[in-house]
Amino acid sequence: LIEDIVLRKILDSRGNPTVEVEVYTLNGYGRAAAPAGKSTGKHEVKAYPVGGIDKGIEYFKERMDNFIGMDSTQQEDIDAMLHEIDGTDDFSMLGGNIAIAISLAVAKAAANSMGLPFYQYLGGAFANRIPKPVGNVLGGGKHAVGGTTIQEMLSMALSDSAKDNVFANALVHKKVGEKLRERFPNISIGLGDEKAWIAPMDDIEAIEVVVDAVREVGEEYGIEIKPALDFAASSFYKDGKYHYKNKILTPEEQIDFVEDIVKNYGIYLVEDPLDEEDFDGFAELTRRIGHIAYVVGDDIFVTNVERIKIGVDKGAANTVLIKPNQIGTLTDTIRAIRFSKDNGYATMISHRSGETCDTSIVHIGVAFGVEFIKTGAIGGERIAKLNEMIRIEEELKGE
Ligand code: PGA
Ligand code: ZN
Repeated sequence: LIEDIVLRKILDSRGNPTVEVEVYTLNGYGRAAAPAGKSTGKHEVKAYPVGGIDKGIEYFKERMDNFIGMDSTQQEDIDAMLHEIDGTDDFSMLGGNIAIAISLAVAKAAANSMGLPFYQYLGGAFANRIPKPVGNVLGGGKHAVGGTTIQEMLSMALSDSAKDNVFANALVHKKVGEKLRERFPNISIGLGDEKAWIAPMDDIEAIEVVVDAVREVGEEYGIEIKPALDFAASSFYKDGKYHYKNKILTPEEQIDFVEDIVKNYGIYLVEDPLDEEDFDGFAELTRRIGHIAYVVGDDIFVTNVERIKIGVDKGAANTVLIKPNQIGTLTDTIRAIRFSKDNGYATMISHRSGETCDTSIVHIGVAFGVEFIKTGAIGGERIAKLNEMIRIEEELKGE
């Protein structure tokens, strides 16, 4: 039974405040923190109420009594109570970031009271597969000043070993860095919010660097690695057109462009290649490339079953990005994963560009057989999750 819930402001990886929650039960303890997006989807729940994080914390404290004495193992009841005290359909009173941190901290306290690792508490006997890591190595968009228009260019190592995959993606990151140093000997090269490189190149030049690095590391280490892209296209879609650094494309031209680069460069996964409202465009693109690439919906689906359902009905995308704080509770997150899987869609669980060292997404990914996990290639708040995957793999193998 829940005895106390403590909320506090802590730093995220951008140096902004985020919320951390501690839950104390009779014989358990759990702690979780919320991440923060920057290229957020329009249909995500509200991260914080009007008035910001302090207002949300205050709002919860005034209603915390509702949770005291509740059973921490009854996750659906906890999450229903979060919705009830908020009273809106987008967490605009409590804030979805506060809701998700409470929801996860309660679940972790329940796991702790049973003496179980979090992934095992959530997934039981079926929690035995580590998602394949997808790591951002070069990019721009809203995550970096002066980078590419496409937000993220990523490395996907696909071996059966989580450890090898994690190291392979980090090696691709390193290799991209070497290539940039050679190419721009007199310019200082930086890192974006997710610790991917930033360099003054157009998108095609950058894709070529990443594709080469992926191929070279793959050959060197004898491991299958594929390149991937997150366009985050809503962030450069204005007045009906896609605005790149060096060109402007109509929606039809954007679909052709994505199809071409997928085919020419062997891109294995494309996320948000079109605007977040363009279900029909997503469906058309999926018809063209869905048999050779994962077409992932992030801002279009926002981890929301209602929106995923529209996608399923139209054949838009074939993969759903899962970000727990886009929807605000663990229960809603698990519903989105299950609904996607039941309808034949793959899933990829994801960090946000602003992160803490919280590792919940790894545990959720392992618990529910999520295929991929996007959580960077390097950087403290990213390696917290990557290293957790290595630990869990060791634990699963040792059993
Ligand atoms: P965000 O973006 O975390 O900055 O919203 C990440 C993504 O688009 O996948
Ligand atoms: Zn995205």
